[in-house]
Amino acid sequence: MAEAASDLAARTAHPRNSTVANAPAARAPRAKRSAAPAITVSPTPKHLTAVRGPLLGWYDRNKRDLPWRRTRDPYAIWLSEVMLQQTQVSTVIPYWERFLARFPTALALASAPLDDVLAGWKGLGYYSRARNLHRAAQEVVARFGGRLPSTAEELLTLPGFGRYTAGAVASIAFGEEAPLVDGNVARVLSRLFEVEGLPGDKEREATLWALATALVKGERPGDFNQALMEHGATTCRPESPLCLLCPVRGACVAFRKGRVDELPPAKVRATPKKLTLALAVWPHAGTLLFARRADSGLFGGLWELPAAEVDADLPEAEAAARLASALGSEVKLEGTLGTVKRQLTHRDLTLRLLRVSGAQRPTRAPAFQELRWCTPAEAAALGMSTAMQRALDAALGSGVLNGD
Ligand code: ADE
Repeated sequence: MAEAASDLAARTAHPRNSTVANAPAARAPRAKRSAAPAITVSPTPKHLTAVRGPLLGWYDRNKRDLPWRRTRDPYAIWLSEVMLQQTQVSTVIPYWERFLARFPTALALASAPLDDVLAGWKGLGYYSRARNLHRAAQEVVARFGGRLPSTAEELLTLPGFGRYTAGAVASIAFGEEAPLVDGNVARVLSRLFEVEGLPGDKEREATLWALATALVKGERPGDFNQALMEHGATTCRPESPLCLLCPVRGACVAFRKGRVDELPPAKVRATPKKLTLALAVWPHAGTLLFARRADSGLFGGLWELPAAEVDADLPEAEAAARLASALGSEVKLEGTLGTVKRQLTHRDLTLRLLRVSGAQRPTRAPAFQELRWCTPAEAAALGMSTAMQRALDAALGSGVLNGD
């Protein structure tokens, strides 16, 4: 991080406010999708000061009263930062409170079975976050005596910690001058310093991290990082930013040049891949069969109605045969119970519910970590994705257990 800062300082040779220099000709050719020319941002110390002080003052006056801002416990702060990745503040609050009540320390989390941790995460999505959190807690116990290490450098050695999380925890919980860049910060910095390039562009990322590194130096680095994020979340919004209320409008190059709506350019999203799963709905004596997936991959470690990937148009009998081989058991197709569709960020998911039965009821299966026959009440406590929960609700709603 210090390297990035000195690199930025070395390029701070321009006398005026933020200036933009063309990159050296020797730089590698840019990716095709980026039409913008290669550029380097070199802010003056004056520009950095004009951003840092007012933003921190604005944060002191306007910050939201969030529960993780009332604690100094590094574990609780870490948990909030993990949950806040890809999830909105209002959704996170009750999850954070419940999870912390259930797993109050790194030691408590490390000692819990993964299954319980995933159940505590149920509904938040992106379950790899919970798996990494659990593994990292175990390493914190094994390597650091149950206390989170206090520097970004050490935090980066733990599972699930990237530069963002390491910077957030080191600065907020331990007061280290460690930078962070998330989507909100990237947008704020792109506008303030007129950083060109598309999200994902390596050169743009390096420029943003160098800017964040230069800006975080000074008093209250954790509050400053939170000020940047808060400003992006509430004022410097992607659409209709509130420039007239902006505390750093005078230091914003994009505002001065009328380019706020252009920066940063919208991310080109890949079309989600289609994924169709056949689900076995197998009733027996008031229970249904559930399976726990392998730990890796989509929905890793989570419980489901036993699922097998199929082509969208595979005939039902063949889909049932796939389920039979996943379960390592004979499966008789009794009928179909409809489909549930769910849009994930990277997947267009279709779940086809097949009502099945069999002479022998399996208790272990080659494709799964574990099988269990559960009543609906027991199933409610299993770690299950929201998509699977919807499929289960549809199966139960069809009356599959009535009279069973
Ligand atoms: N987004 C993620 N973490 C945040 C924090 N600590 N403050 C504001 N926004 C955030």
